[in-house]
Amino acid sequence: MERWTPGSWRNMPIEQTPVYRDPAALADVESQLAGFPPLVFAGEARNLKRQLADVCAGKAFLLQGGDCAESFSEHSADNIRDFFRVFLQMAVVLTYAAGSPVVKVGRIAGQFAKPRSSPVEKKGEVELPSYRGDIINDIDFTEASRVPDPQRQLLAYRQSAATLNLIRAFAAGGFANLENVQRWMLGFVKSSPQSERYQKLADQITETLSFMRAIGLDPEHHPELRGTDFYTSHEALLLQYEQALTRIDSTTGDYYATSGHMLWIGDRTRQENGAHVEFMRGIKNPIGLKCGPSLKPEGLLRLIDALNPENEPGRLTLICRFGADKAQDALPPLLRAVTREGRNVVWSCDPMHGNTISAAGYKTRPFDRIMSEIRGFFGAHQAEGTYAGGIHLEMTGKDVTECTGGARAISEDNLRDRYHTYCDPRLNAEQAIEVAFLVAELLKAERVARGVPEQHAAE
Ligand code: PEP
Ligand code: CO
Repeated sequence: MERWTPGSWRNMPIEQTPVYRDPAALADVESQLAGFPPLVFAGEARNLKRQLADVCAGKAFLLQGGDCAESFSEHSADNIRDFFRVFLQMAVVLTYAAGSPVVKVGRIAGQFAKPRSSPVEKKGEVELPSYRGDIINDIDFTEASRVPDPQRQLLAYRQSAATLNLIRAFAAGGFANLENVQRWMLGFVKSSPQSERYQKLADQITETLSFMRAIGLDPEHHPELRGTDFYTSHEALLLQYEQALTRIDSTTGDYYATSGHMLWIGDRTRQENGAHVEFMRGIKNPIGLKCGPSLKPEGLLRLIDALNPENEPGRLTLICRFGADKAQDALPPLLRAVTREGRNVVWSCDPMHGNTISAAGYKTRPFDRIMSEIRGFFGAHQAEGTYAGGIHLEMTGKDVTECTGGARAISEDNLRDRYHTYCDPRLNAEQAIEVAFLVAELLKAERVARGVPEQHAAE
């Protein structure tokens, strides 16, 4: 293989890349970004890699989720707080109900660039270039809005920094303190079918904490109860931006992407000799690879060779997104090939991207299909003796109506009520928590089957 540099991807064929009209303006933005402070630090990325190595060894579970696409217009403290709150609720459900440590990774603080199935969007007689995410162009359906503008990269960087700043405060400061487990309930979730279950679980945790205090173990002295580790991730699609934020770590001499802790390669940009694989093989962060229906075992093994040649546990997460109908056939051959070759990977399930359908004029995802892919994922791992290590969700802390079904049975007619996404349909807060409870049951059963000792007398 040729020598890697942060810019060696530029010599490779590239998919899904915007064409900027003014190369000088783009170069100016890239050099500004290259001088800006890193958003995350190499040591943090290494910590996440260590936690993912635990997932790889079957000792923890990965929860990854957030917006399909972050947007400039929805950037607010309330949105970030509501997302974080629901995410913490999901994590606590998984930790407590399933008795498994949870590695928390948001699709946040950098998830701005979107690959598209079609380069153009048509409305009536008018055809315009597709929207590619706020870091590239604007969602308004006008000619001018759809022109890629490099200045947007600076806005995305600054929004990511502000988002991360608030998340760091939430994660380290009081908000994520387990003593607040009751307060994470959102107003509208309180009246939901999930609220009773969550309330019960929160009461048990509160009881446990007072028991700890009673026997002289002050939770305030335990950092793991006072705060939480939370990491950021996004698709590494816009390589000009990623390169500008890739830095040498002074303690190891290695290159790290500093735009987020974990980056992943999308299903549309995983060509073996393509630019995205080239860029990602050289950075030392933990990385993800989306695995869709067109990926065959031999191709996957070659990609693993390129992306994790040292077979380092925690380095590579395979994010499977086949669709509920295809997963049964597609997944087992991949599990077998990777196991046969002794490759260390984290297996995660993205039940969103293979289950998008059109209904009532909207892109939507039926809750049952999402759960069916997750169940199939756990089932396939059980059959092959491998570990179902995580889930990857598109979700929000808001009460949107974008995915149908769930305990509140959102119908196709409800979709128009609060359909706010900039790209794909997300689980709303209730649906996300419902998924967490259902996955906790699967995970608990899996741990019982493996004979992992239960850590909590849950429920
Ligand atoms: C995504 O995660 O938003 C996405 C586009 O996924 P995929 O590459 O799997 O289609
Ligand atoms: Co998406």
